[in-house]
Amino acid sequence: MNFEEIRNIAVLGSGIMGHGIAQSFMMGGYPVMLYDIRESILETAEAHIKNNLELFRRAGLIARPEIESALERLTLTVDLKRAVETADFIVEAIPEDVSLKQDLFQHIEKRCSQNAIIASNTSSLTLKEIGARVKNKNRLVITHWFNPAQLVPTVEVVKGEQTSNEILDITYQLLLKIRKAPVRINREIPGFLVNRIQIAMAREVLDLYEKGIASAEDIDEAVRGSIGFRLASIGPLLTMDLGGLDIWFKVLENLLPDIHCSTKPPEVLQKLVAQGHKGIKSGKGFYDYSLDFSKGALDDAIKKRDREFLNRLRHLYWKTET
Ligand SMILES: NC(=O)c1ccc[n+]([C@@H]2O[C@H](COP(=O)([O-])OP(=O)(O)OC[C@H]3O[C@@H](n4cnc5c(N)ncnc54)[C@H](O)[C@@H]3O)[C@@H](O)[C@H]2O)c1
Repeated sequence: MNFEEIRNIAVLGSGIMGHGIAQSFMMGGYPVMLYDIRESILETAEAHIKNNLELFRRAGLIARPEIESALERLTLTVDLKRAVETADFIVEAIPEDVSLKQDLFQHIEKRCSQNAIIASNTSSLTLKEIGARVKNKNRLVITHWFNPAQLVPTVEVVKGEQTSNEILDITYQLLLKIRKAPVRINREIPGFLVNRIQIAMAREVLDLYEKGIASAEDIDEAVRGSIGFRLASIGPLLTMDLGGLDIWFKVLENLLPDIHCSTKPPEVLQKLVAQGHKGIKSGKGFYDYSLDFSKGALDDAIKKRDREFLNRLRHLYWKTET
């Protein structure tokens, strides 16, 4: 099998991640069966997809006829058999619950074609766990997308213990074809690649905040305008090459003994969570949202974020064709 033989896609679960994954495949030219457990959930997902396609159009990334043809490629269904029976590539984005995913994978295998590739968007489970009851484990792969899936280019393509190289390559090619920026992760480790790096940074950020080295505003501004500014264009290893490895060696040698290395979530975060301060959704986190805390304010914040992400996508990833 090669990736050109992939014609039909099924996306199972249409929540935060599923609807963005479905949109990406629709925009990439593939017919998509989007499955969920209730019609009302699918209708909400479809409304999000329509809105998000419109945002792509306003950012100049697609034209109006492309919205129409993308939407023609979408089929909503609450019938699992119908969703998977003609699919060549199936991606699961249901809640992060091992027994739910095991059940689903078992059901999928009974109903899909022998050659179909079955992918999971899990953030923290292994294919060994999710696929425990699947007979042909060679065809299982993890595709780990980032929220918002229709906008963030990277998708981690993770090889499970039994994933064949062929399946890994086809999945990689397929994601390239739909204009994502896939990366190969050669074996399953907790957090794969990106989340491990993100967590390492979070630990140090929270420690600096806890020690009062700088305010929340200054920490955010410092990271955004320095490493954040650079990382949008060049990765950390190229940054090291450009800076000089001898310098990096010295800096690491001097600073590493002082960098936080606790294996527990920092106290500051434990305290905030225990007090019910969960960030924007509760009105307070590191910042106070209580003065302007409404559904409208949250929607506006998300719209602003998406506009900025679309601009970045156009400049950094879609520049050859626009
Ligand atoms: N949210 C994120 O930022 C993020 C990022 C990367 C990966 N993930 C992973 O993606 C997966 C989905 O996360 P999410 O945030 O989209 O969750 P979500 O709760 O927003 O969406 C899950 C959807 O699955 C549906 N569902 C529930 N049970 C189902 C079943 N048995 N069959 C089919 N659909 C079912 C729900 O109705 C819901 O629409 C999880 O494995 C999560 O760990 C999430």
